[in-house]
Amino acid sequence: MRIVVLVSGTGSNLQAVIDAVKAGELDVEIAAVGADREGTYGVERSSEAGLETFVVNFNSFPTRAEWDDALTARVASYAPDVVVSSGFMRIVSPEFIDTFNGKYLNTHPALLPAFPGAHGVRDAMAYGVKVTGCTVHWADAGVDTGPIIAQEAVVIEDSDTEESLHERIKVVERRLLVSTLATLAAAP
Ligand code: GAR
Repeated sequence: MRIVVLVSGTGSNLQAVIDAVKAGELDVEIAAVGADREGTYGVERSSEAGLETFVVNFNSFPTRAEWDDALTARVASYAPDVVVSSGFMRIVSPEFIDTFNGKYLNTHPALLPAFPGAHGVRDAMAYGVKVTGCTVHWADAGVDTGPIIAQEAVVIEDSDTEESLHERIKVVERRLLVSTLATLAAAP
């Protein structure tokens, strides 16, 4: 199974995928890692791991549609079976989803459909829920919407900060992402 991974930030979930592939625990080929902006640590660490990388910079295109088209063409050039959003903080177009036959996997640091968006951890804490978690799902063209594949709960402690809670969620998120990819890769 060939995957392309999209990042906007540090790519620590991506690192878990890279580590699992290197350890022989995950039978996928990471065809490329792409970002929507220059200077992400996700792309830097991928280059260091010897992976092909690319940037389709959102701010370099006059319109969103042109960026969408460029991103779709670039990702399609690697002919992936599955595209993975690993903290990719841009909505993609319906055409993008169609091009990859709906095989666009996303992870989110909350129990969807609760607390979608860029601040899932902060929003859960602000609401005062006592349990949150993470979700791996097939993404559609909405904000963290689409069929759910796996979820796991994480208890919020009174002493938690957004950072401490997000880090605990990410530990679970990395495991769920790797195991979901392993299941998909093993499917006929
Ligand atoms: C992850 O927690 C991911 O779920 C979240 O961004 C973080 C990226 O971390 N994505 C979203 O919030 C999507 N709405 P990473 O760059 O260290 O992998």
